[in-house]
Amino acid sequence: MIIAIDGPAGAGKSTIAKKLAAELGFKYLDSGAMYRALALKALEKGVNQEDEERLVNLLESCSIEFQPQAENPTPRLIVNGEDVSEKIRSPRVNNIVSQVSKHKKVREKLVAAQREMASKANLVAEGRDIGSVVFPKADLKIYLTASLVERARRRLTDLNNQGHRYSLDEVKKQLAARDKYDSRRQNSPLVCPSDAKKIDTTGKTIEEVTEEIRGLIKVAL
Ligand code: CDP
Repeated sequence: MIIAIDGPAGAGKSTIAKKLAAELGFKYLDSGAMYRALALKALEKGVNQEDEERLVNLLESCSIEFQPQAENPTPRLIVNGEDVSEKIRSPRVNNIVSQVSKHKKVREKLVAAQREMASKANLVAEGRDIGSVVFPKADLKIYLTASLVERARRRLTDLNNQGHRYSLDEVKKQLAARDKYDSRRQNSPLVCPSDAKKIDTTGKTIEEVTEEIRGLIKVAL
C-alpha cells in the first residue's frame, strides 16, 4: 500500500508523512533526502551540478540508506557509511539540489531505488513526483501546499534551529526560486496530479491536516 504526498518546499510534507507512517505502521520515504545526498556528495567531490554523466557516476559510487531510529520518526540518512542527516539540510545543499535533481539519468536511478523500497514495505512517500511518476498507482495521492509566506516562516524556524541566520525575505526568495525551478524543469516537474487531493495547509495545525488525511485514507482504503 502506498500513500503519495507531493508539494512545494515547506508545505509540511515531512512532518505529516512521518506522523502518518508512524500511525499506520508504514515505512516513511523522504525522496528529497536522496536527491540531497547526491547534491552533498557533488559539493564534496567538486562535481558540477550541470554535469549529468559525472553525477550519475558519483551516484553509482554511493550507497544511500535510511536507518530507522527507535525513539524518533526521522530516519538517519547514511551515505557510504557516514551519517549525513544534518549536512544534507545545509544552505549549500539547498542552493544546488534542484539543479542536481533535474537530470533524467539521476532521476531514473533514484526512482528505481524508491520503487524497490515499495516492493518490500507499505510506504508513506513524499517528494515532488511521487504521485505523478514514481507511484502513479498509489492508493492515495495528496498534494500539500501553503502560502509562500507561511512556508517561508516554517522553513525559517527550521533554519534558525540549525543555527543559520536568515531574514524571512531571504527565505521567501530561496523557496520561490526552488519552487519555480522544480515546477518548470523538463523531467518530472512538480505538479499536482489530477487524481490527487489538494490540501492547503495555510493557517492549519499539523493535527488538523493529519485529521483531514486520516479521513481521506478511510475513504481510499
Ligand atoms: O524539504 P524540502 O521541501 O525543502 O525539499 P526536499 O523534499 O528535501 O527536496 C529537495 C529538492 O529535491 C527539491 O527542491 C527538488 O528539487 C528535489 N526533489 C525532486 O526533484 N524529486 C523528489 N521526489 C523530491 C525532491
